[in-house]
Amino acid sequence: MQKKYKVGLIGLGGIAKGAHMSAYGRMDNVELAAICDIVPSKIEDFKKRYHLSDDFPAFTDYHDLLNVEGLDYVDICTPNYLHSVIAVDALNKGLHVFTEKPDAVSVAEVTKMKEAADRSGKTLMVMRNNRHRNTTRFLKNYISDGHMGDIYCGRCGWIRRRGIPGKGGWFTTKEQSGGGPLIDLGVHMIDLAIWLMGNPTPVTVTGCAYTKFADTEVSDSEHSAFGEKKANGIFDVEDLAMGFIRFDNGACLQIEFSWASNIKNEENFVELRGTKAGAKISNVSGLEIFSESYGQLTDIKPLADDLKGIPQHEANLRHFLDVLGGAEPDFVPVQGVNMIKILEAMYQSAELGHEIAL
Ligand SMILES: NC(=O)c1ccc[n+]([C@@H]2O[C@H](COP(=O)([O-])OP(=O)(O)OC[C@H]3O[C@@H](n4cnc5c(N)ncnc54)[C@H](O)[C@@H]3O)[C@@H](O)[C@H]2O)c1
Repeated sequence: MQKKYKVGLIGLGGIAKGAHMSAYGRMDNVELAAICDIVPSKIEDFKKRYHLSDDFPAFTDYHDLLNVEGLDYVDICTPNYLHSVIAVDALNKGLHVFTEKPDAVSVAEVTKMKEAADRSGKTLMVMRNNRHRNTTRFLKNYISDGHMGDIYCGRCGWIRRRGIPGKGGWFTTKEQSGGGPLIDLGVHMIDLAIWLMGNPTPVTVTGCAYTKFADTEVSDSEHSAFGEKKANGIFDVEDLAMGFIRFDNGACLQIEFSWASNIKNEENFVELRGTKAGAKISNVSGLEIFSESYGQLTDIKPLADDLKGIPQHEANLRHFLDVLGGAEPDFVPVQGVNMIKILEAMYQSAELGHEIAL
């Protein structure tokens, strides 16, 4: 009989309801066994919304949830600064961990997380939205089969014209978020680029970061609905970052991320240049491959359609459960450590005005 994994869900906000619970609703090998949110009214709303009984195990302190008997893993959907803290406590209790991105808000924290996973022998996986899309899977296979040759450089970014999430709330408060669009959006596209490049190790980073839109009222993106706005709240993170990463294999990656900037349209993209072909994946133009055959330039447009695939959260969670069942993990914690090293070095470089060696 198929094992049913018992999950404790921590943080009952937008992404827990909007993506994790809908994924669980379609998966028959998971059972929601306990919930936690620091705000009691959110627990009550959640119970009503998902028809949970009055005595369903529900806690305002995540330490209590970790003591629930029979749990297999926790799914962490709290603000960023808590991912590593809760993950370490859960791993130390012998639980597996799936957490939302970003992995952690500092290199010190992400290192503690990896060490706790190593010590416990339990699985630690962090949400990597873009690895399980139809387009990205196609491109990964295309690259692995050698069709792009040696990938020696690339660009990636997620640039919003306006789309600051939860202005004044935790997203824009450095102590709770770790940073602005670089950490919020950077993890998505930098991860996709590096994963497609074959996970080279980053060796140096240089970058700039700016805060120019803390006072604007204009909001034209559905993304500004994330988190909770707070009138007269804190805004001490960047709203735009640009930078450059060098890797141990000689490759490089140019990056740019904004929650707000004066551009025409929002776009998220990864563009890679290989010796045999280049490729671009973008929310605007889909997947395109640029090559040359029989003396002619060729553009290839695979008809892979992300909307026809399994939604990203569900695909990640299904993969996580496969790993618990013995499958080879696609994400390993050292990749999270490298990611946070890049982000932290970007902020250091922006502050100090020079390149940082990792
Ligand atoms: N992968 C994606 O596509 C994606 C998209 C959006 C958000 N996220 C990530 O998901 C996380 C949550 O984002 P969100 O938009 O749902 O934010 P949110 O503010 O809507 O939800 C966070 C929830 O955590 C709760 N919380 C805060 N402190 C807590 C504590 N100590 N214990 C238990 N609960 C606590 C809050 O009360 C709130 O209900 C963030 O890390 C964010 O980066 C990921």
